[in-house]
Amino acid sequence: MTILVTGAAGFIGSNFVLDWFDCSEEDVISLDLLTYAGNLENLSSLSHNSHHHFIKGNIRDRDLVSTLLKKYQIRAIVNLAAESHVDRSIQESKDFIETNILGTYDLLESARYYWNHLDKKLKQDFRFLHISSDEVYGSLNSSDQPSNEEDPYKPNSPYSSSKAASNHLVRAWFQTYKLPVFIINSSNNYGLYQYPEKLIPLCILNALKGKPLTIYGDGLQIRDWLYVQDHCSALREILKRGQIGETYNIGGCNEKTNLEVVRTLCTILDELKPRLDGKSYSDQITFVKDRPGHDRRYAIDASKLVRDFNWKPKESFETGLRKTVLWYLKHEGRMNDFMYGEYHHWIQKQYS
Ligand code: NAD
Ligand code: TYD
Repeated sequence: MTILVTGAAGFIGSNFVLDWFDCSEEDVISLDLLTYAGNLENLSSLSHNSHHHFIKGNIRDRDLVSTLLKKYQIRAIVNLAAESHVDRSIQESKDFIETNILGTYDLLESARYYWNHLDKKLKQDFRFLHISSDEVYGSLNSSDQPSNEEDPYKPNSPYSSSKAASNHLVRAWFQTYKLPVFIINSSNNYGLYQYPEKLIPLCILNALKGKPLTIYGDGLQIRDWLYVQDHCSALREILKRGQIGETYNIGGCNEKTNLEVVRTLCTILDELKPRLDGKSYSDQITFVKDRPGHDRRYAIDASKLVRDFNWKPKESFETGLRKTVLWYLKHEGRMNDFMYGEYHHWIQKQYS
């Protein structure tokens, strides 16, 4: 059998596909539009693997998706294709609405049509795994309990509202059509292959370039950091043993303020690649204007996943971050593209 992974050339998608081949016999069709965030180099180690096929295409292209589903007798769809960056959604939200909402709708419809025409056994085995975000629950206060699967959605950014909308669609396709779906709300991921616009890889890039490490507002906003391979192992468990129609929250049990994250990063960099002037990278930390509508705290209650599958993250924040830094130090050249282009100019102006 074969699975279809959308967004496979992106950060989580490429980690998921690479891990899949370490743990499974099933073939993979990778579908990705190769937007600015997709990079085929992430999958280059699979270029001679006959069990993997890469297709450049849009999840909105129903003809293409329907052809792939039929041709490869797809047994599961793992939907990781999205516009994923909050700052970009503030700059311009159109692509977020089109890919995250309409793209999910198109993918659901292609899947529904295909699934409806499968024979009984294949129909029973089919799964649609939709990956979303803890940001759909909105901002928590310091005294609030971490978000669990039953909590209401209160998204605040164009990004998180587009993800919440996509979750509602996926839920409705289960309730109405019985399409066998799972909804996954994951906390902030970090690790190898992440595009350097998100906090951790951006700070690594800027530290090495001698540029400011920009901290929005007071830097005391909290995120729950999850090593990407731990996320992938949870997704595999859910695909294998999840209860159809359920939502699963995945978190790293690693609540940190942004300032803590950046300071820890600086300490690791000071050790692995000391600055030539002997000073600490933390001297580059620069407080800038706050992000509009900046959510104060996200935290995930992942106890359902622990209870149902005995799943636990393997990586601590310190070990995961060290692996991440080592990888970026080895692949410094890949990150340079980010320093140019319209978005880069916008972000510099926005947070000056
Ligand atoms: P990413 O931006 O690194 O990758 C997204 C990928 O999707 C890119 O390769 C891009 O080319 C592709 N893509 C975009 N539009 C497409 C389209 N219309 N058709 C086909 N491919 C398209 O994102 P990521 O960080 O890997 O996130 C993957 C998913 O996980 C997203 O749904 C995101 O909302 C969710 N998520 C991410 C995080 C995180 O911390 N990165 C946390 C929680 C949830
Ligand atoms: P980010 O990696 O963009 O993820 P998200 O907004 O989805 O949580 O940002 C993580 C946190 O870091 C968030 O609170 C915004 C903050 N941040 C900064 O303080 N400076 C930066 O340069 C960036 C990119 C993010």
